[in-house]
Amino acid sequence: MTDLLQLPSKPCALRVMPQPSDANIHGDVFGGWIMAQVDIAGSIPASRRANGRVATIAVNSFLFKQPVFVGDLLSFYADIVKTGNTSVTVSVEVYAQRMRLSQEVVKVTEAILTYVATDSDRRPRALPVLD
Ligand SMILES: CC(C)(COP(=O)(O)OP(=O)(O)OC[C@H]1O[C@@H](n2cnc3c(N)ncnc32)[C@H](O)[C@@H]1OP(=O)(O)O)[C@@H](O)C(=O)NCCC(=O)NCCS
Repeated sequence: MTDLLQLPSKPCALRVMPQPSDANIHGDVFGGWIMAQVDIAGSIPASRRANGRVATIAVNSFLFKQPVFVGDLLSFYADIVKTGNTSVTVSVEVYAQRMRLSQEVVKVTEAILTYVATDSDRRPRALPVLD
């Protein structure tokens, strides 16, 4: 028997449950809605590292591995994988707890996004130096 997947033990950036308005008539959640949540989740460590505002410059990769259904409890895990002079690249992994199926855990999405620290004129700004 294969072991059931567990949620990662690290803190998640975001947890949200899609509603009927986020899905088609069959209850399958729109990819664009998931992309928006991934963008929000990824921006959290990026703006923390930038100590201020960031803009998404690139979605480097995006994989919808499994469908998402209305009523799934989604957990978004976001980790910085690279920093440059002004940019922060973040890996986001999304897990669904299928609330209708004994809380089975499924990895539904993985993505890599790059954010740029911006100033009040929306121009690129160097990341603050870490202590
Ligand atoms: C974000 C923005 C201010 C950056 O300005 P820019 O002049 O294009 O940026 P630069 O060419 O100086 O590059 C800034 C950083 O982004 C990185 N970058 C540029 N293109 C990239 C790409 N395709 N993929 C990943 N990183 C990229 C650069 O390497 C640089 O990183 P570094 O400083 O760490 O080396 C500008 O592109 C912008 O406003 N874009 C729209 C943002 C937006 O509205 N996002 C919401 C989605 S619609």
